[in-house]
Amino acid sequence: MTKLPQARGAGLLILAVVAAVAVSGVGPPAIAGAQEDLDRRVRAFLDASRGRWRDLNVPVVDGQTLHDIIIKNGYTRALEIGTSTGHSSIWIGWALAKTGGKLVTVEIDERRHRQALANFEAAGLSAFIDARLGDAHVLVPALKGPFDFVFSDADKDWYKNYLIAVLPKLEVGGCYVTHNVTARGRWRGARDEYVDYLFSLRNLETTIDTRGAGMSISYKRSA
Ligand SMILES: C[S@@+](CC[C@H](N)C(=O)[O-])C[C@H]1O[C@@H](n2cnc3c(N)ncnc32)[C@H](O)[C@@H]1O
Repeated sequence: MTKLPQARGAGLLILAVVAAVAVSGVGPPAIAGAQEDLDRRVRAFLDASRGRWRDLNVPVVDGQTLHDIIIKNGYTRALEIGTSTGHSSIWIGWALAKTGGKLVTVEIDERRHRQALANFEAAGLSAFIDARLGDAHVLVPALKGPFDFVFSDADKDWYKNYLIAVLPKLEVGGCYVTHNVTARGRWRGARDEYVDYLFSLRNLETTIDTRGAGMSISYKRSA
C-alpha cells in the first residue's frame, strides 16, 4: 500500500524526464548502472589505444581537458571540426554521455571517417556521436546550431573562417576551443593572426592551455 505514492512519484519522474528530453532535443544522461558499464567500456578502449593514435590525434591531456570542460559546465550540444580517427571525439562523446548531450563531428578524409566510426562503436559511444563525412568549409556554415561547446581542429589556415561561421551559433556561456594554437610550422602566420583575432573579440574570454599541444579556451560572455 505504501508503494503507491512511490510508484506515482517514479512515474512522474519518468514523465518529467521524457518532457525535458522532448523540449531540449538531446538525450537523457545514461542512468547509473548503464553509465558505469559505459565508463568501463570507454576507459578500456582508451587504455588499449593509448600510444596507438597515428592520425594527427590530440594528446591524452588535451582529450581529458575537453572532457572536463564539458562536465564542469554541463554542456550538451557539441560540434567538432576535424574528427580524424576520433580520439578527441571519444573524450567529448564520453562527457556528453554523462551530460545527456550529443556531438556533431566533421571529417573530410573517408578512411579516417570510417576508422572513427569503428572506434566509436568499439568505445560504445556511437549513440552520442553524429559523424559526418565532408568538407567542413561547406558543412560547418550550414549547421543550424545552437552549440554550447565547439572544438576546432581541422585545417589551420581556415580557423578564422570557422570561428566567424560558428560564433553566432555559440550560446552565451558556451566554450570554443581551438587546437594547436602554439604549434610551430608552416601555418605559423595564420596561427598568429588567428590568436590575435581571438583576443581582439570583446565577447570572448580566452586563455591558452599549454600543457598539451596548445589549446585556446574561449568562453562566450555576451552576444
Ligand atoms: C588534427 S586532425 C584532427 C584530430 C582529431 N581531433 C583527433 O584528436 O583525433 C585534423 C583533421 O581535419 C581534417 N580536415 C582537414 N581539412 C578539413 C576540411 N576542410 N573539412 C573536414 N575535415 C578536414 C583532416 O583530414 C584531419 O583528419
